[in-house]
Amino acid sequence: MTTRLLVTGAAGVLGRYAREGLKDRGKVLRLSDVVDLGPPREGEEVVQCDLADGKAIEALVCGCDTILHLGALATEASFDALLQANFLGTYNLYEAARKAGVKRIIFASSNHVTGFHPIGKELDDKAERRPDSLYGVSKCFGEDLSRLYFDKFGLETVCLRIGSCFDEPRNRRMLSTWLSPRDFISLVSKLLDVPVIGHLILYGVSANRDVWWSNAHADFIGWQPQDSSEPYRKSIELSEQDPAGWRFQGGRLATVETSA
Ligand SMILES: NC(=O)c1ccc[n+]([C@@H]2O[C@H](COP(=O)([O-])OP(=O)(O)OC[C@H]3O[C@@H](n4cnc5c(N)ncnc54)[C@H](O)[C@@H]3O)[C@@H](O)[C@H]2O)c1
Repeated sequence: MTTRLLVTGAAGVLGRYAREGLKDRGKVLRLSDVVDLGPPREGEEVVQCDLADGKAIEALVCGCDTILHLGALATEASFDALLQANFLGTYNLYEAARKAGVKRIIFASSNHVTGFHPIGKELDDKAERRPDSLYGVSKCFGEDLSRLYFDKFGLETVCLRIGSCFDEPRNRRMLSTWLSPRDFISLVSKLLDVPVIGHLILYGVSANRDVWWSNAHADFIGWQPQDSSEPYRKSIELSEQDPAGWRFQGGRLATVETSA
């Protein structure tokens, strides 16, 4: 169905998973990042540009029907830095997508939009947003912007509130929040294939034992995570104490020590 899929932030952790995991899906994978991505491989186009550069983003989006928007500062940073990459960058992308007639964007949102909810509390797409950082606020902005572009222009978006997507869970918190690379790719693949998706908020998390988030409202997409953090539990629990004062789902970002 996809003719040209744009992946922003393609040099990053998730971008590299996407480059490998989605290579046989779209007719063309257009990969972009502000840093060098190396030469294109078969079936790829490579464009190096800054999301904050509106003109460059217009050219980047042209000819694409779907976008996986991963490009961003991916953790807490100064407001000025977030303003360029996350706020302005996401605005530039949506405005360019609207002009180019893009059908669907999968927006890499974050669990940090709800990071000030207490650990253990189950959240779904209706949960109050309680961002735990300026970074979390930048993702709230992206979610709201995507809602505006859906309601006003019909541009579909899935706001994917990613938990912690790495090769393996790295600490106790990630025993709950881990999204395996394989589950990330299978989820994105589903989200690209569903014929009509509208505007959807989803949590990106594997089938871990103690998950805090429910995607029951999105059963219609037919995605089932395959992986679980359970095989890593013993070694993580042996090597790590419970972080002192860890009360909130956002973990370290929901502490006063982490501020820009
Ligand atoms: N990995 C996770 O567990 C996780 C969790 C929640 C949300 N996310 C979100 O998923 C996305 C990808 O995360 P990641 O872990 O791969 O992060 P990453 O930092 O590894 O990759 C982000 C990429 O975006 C690029 N980028 C940053 N500013 C840019 C700009 N101004 N113009 C163009 N490119 C720019 C960077 O060069 C980098 O390659 C981010 O939006 C992040 O907020 C990731």
